[in-house]
Amino acid sequence: MTEIKLHNVGITGMGMSFPDKILSNADLEKMVDTNDQWIVERTGIRERRIVEKGVGASVHGAEAARRAIAQAGLAPEDIDLIVVPTVTPDMMFPSTACIIQDLIGATNAWGYDLGAACSGYLFALESARCQVASGMAKNAVVIGTEVMSSIIDYEDRNTCILFGDGAGAAVIQPVADSAPGIIDSINYIDGSGVKHLHMKAGGSQMPASSETVANKLHYVYQEGGEVFKRAVRGMADVALQVVEKNGLKKSDVKLLVPHQANTRIIAAAQRRLELTDEQVVITIDRYGNTTSASIPTALQIAYEEGRVEKGDLVVLVSFGAGFTWGATLLRWGL
Ligand code: UT7
Repeated sequence: MTEIKLHNVGITGMGMSFPDKILSNADLEKMVDTNDQWIVERTGIRERRIVEKGVGASVHGAEAARRAIAQAGLAPEDIDLIVVPTVTPDMMFPSTACIIQDLIGATNAWGYDLGAACSGYLFALESARCQVASGMAKNAVVIGTEVMSSIIDYEDRNTCILFGDGAGAAVIQPVADSAPGIIDSINYIDGSGVKHLHMKAGGSQMPASSETVANKLHYVYQEGGEVFKRAVRGMADVALQVVEKNGLKKSDVKLLVPHQANTRIIAAAQRRLELTDEQVVITIDRYGNTTSASIPTALQIAYEEGRVEKGDLVVLVSFGAGFTWGATLLRWGL
């Protein structure tokens, strides 16, 4: 049997794109019975970005991908794999990967969408990394893009304050064995969590009908408290697990890039890894929870703010619907 030599894989380009339109806590105060103080204290969110009506997830996804590809010094034709984790695809089918491929002119790529909700980015990154590591793909782009505003009931104060729209992308490529790259990832699913966070209608089990629309079943349904408890435990546990599994210490970690769902959930992971505030990336105040876009955009913002340097050990960690959760350990290479 031929032995496959696995390549070291690194992030070589990043890009993000957000809509211009801001939905602030003050705006939401006019829409539902809520207030800025409650939202900030309970979630950490001050504002989020919202697309104009009719803008699908592919639009900002394509722009984020173009920017990531350019930063990697590649042309769209060089891309051979596109993976798009999204819960708000432009359409049920075809995949948003196909739509983005056409928009950016990545004519030599194959690709697919991947569904893991807020853990989508880490699951997609790992899926793409396996292909680049094995030599099946050379220049992959992983694009987290969401139009969460399309599945949010702006009359439900439990959910409408939480989510925002946007996109983040990373190009991954084989890098020298000695270069900084993605070290490892640990990922989990637990389907017993389905009942706590989902969208009831619009899938094959309950296709769209006038009744499903009248009953508001095409929106995010979340039992916040239950999800909160599981997220606190899941994110903190898996973040530490990926560090220890690789023979490293908490003190080796330079930066934690958590999924941005709630600053109180993030604080639990921060405490478990014994990190300072400076070592934890928070973008939820500006962008809310952008589901699959939250980790790549937070990572890029941290990079642009000079909070991570070449060779630094970084932990990416997520928790989301499913339940799904995971952590990725990498050495920063840009
Ligand atoms: O990213 C995917 C995974 N999702 C998550 O990780 C989200 C996890 N969950 C959470 O982040 C939190 O559970 C929420 C932010 C969604 C809610 O915070 P909470 O501290 O769990 O609040 P709660 O749902 O227990 O509600 C507390 C009170 C309730 O009033 P009563 O029953 O105590 O009188 C709510 O009705 O706060 C009320 N409330 C609000 N008040 C003002 C709920 N939403 C609002 C609101 N404004 N927007």
